[in-house]
Amino acid sequence: MTTYQSTSPASNHHASEPGDAASLANILAPVAPEIALVEEYLVTNLIDDTVFIGELLAQIFQAGGKRIRPAITLLCSKATAKDKDSELSRLHIILAVLTELIHTASLVHDDVIDKATLRRGQETINKKWNERLAVLMGDLLFAQASVCLSRIMNPVVVGIYGQVLGDLCSGEIRQMQQQFSTSINFDSYIRKSIGKTASLFAAGSHSGAILNGSNDEVVESLKQYGLNLGLCFQIVDDLLDVSGTSFELGKQAGSDLSGGVITAPALFVLERGDAAAKRLETLIKTRAVSTAEGTLEALTLIKENGGIEKTQDLCRHYANLGKDCLLVLPQSDCKDSLESLIDYVVTRKK
Ligand code: FPP
Ligand code: MG
Repeated sequence: MTTYQSTSPASNHHASEPGDAASLANILAPVAPEIALVEEYLVTNLIDDTVFIGELLAQIFQAGGKRIRPAITLLCSKATAKDKDSELSRLHIILAVLTELIHTASLVHDDVIDKATLRRGQETINKKWNERLAVLMGDLLFAQASVCLSRIMNPVVVGIYGQVLGDLCSGEIRQMQQQFSTSINFDSYIRKSIGKTASLFAAGSHSGAILNGSNDEVVESLKQYGLNLGLCFQIVDDLLDVSGTSFELGKQAGSDLSGGVITAPALFVLERGDAAAKRLETLIKTRAVSTAEGTLEALTLIKENGGIEKTQDLCRHYANLGKDCLLVLPQSDCKDSLESLIDYVVTRKK
């Protein structure tokens, strides 16, 4: 039987199903002015000492992206602000900017590692130019994130984000080591997902509360909120890789399996121990899964043997844990949005 690792500080558990996700713009309405400032910072305040670098940065940030990480940072900051009605301080805006910079930098590097050709509906930097340039552009974005971090002037927050950079790398390394392995268990899948994704969500969700001087219980609960939401986000990402299309996603679908990255939908089939599990195991171990026919066969095995439904259940498990973490917050629009954001992440289609 599969056991899920709990990251909830609260024991009471909501069994409610996520409802229809309202549009992301509606959910983010309580921090709309601040998100506009983050957007402005991303497109105007970055180092562009050559026209070419300026154009690359513009390409990267104007391609869009859901901006979920900065949104969480802003919502958690506002939900714990002493004065609920005033706009957030410049430091909170910079915190949100640096969270998006680290995310974007990691994607630029990730596309090199995955040899991806499409991101946010556009050709990746490694495809359009080359891998060396993509590595350096990722580094440039990390450098800009460190400048932002220094402007916040809080050693605890510096430590949190320093740890996140390490977690992102170790999560990716862990994933690399597990490629084409069929002996991965859910515990190592979840740990890898915390490293490569949920750690950054968690940093964004509790650092604003630290800057606001919130008490330890609130800070820890928001950290756990971010961890659980980040896990939901990554599990849905892994699900969409199986169930979505490249057109819908703006990136290649099916690329996890073809690259030998074994995620929840495949793990659920492998743990059945039946004929379907044995066949999937063979496709992965022989690397037949990397061929077009092998990927298709593996995707069909997953879809026909409950891989999608069980992954949705796993996602709802973390969604409920994430919602529990919000119980420490006083009632506010931002708290409601943080709850709705979980439903959005669970039901998102791209
Ligand atoms: C996307 O995963 C990638 C990440 C969530 C993190 C990647 C992190 C690194 C490459 C390390 C970053 C380096 C430093 C220096 C901190 P995915 O491939 O599952 O998602 P995708 O389908 O969107 O590509
Ligand atoms: Mg990738």
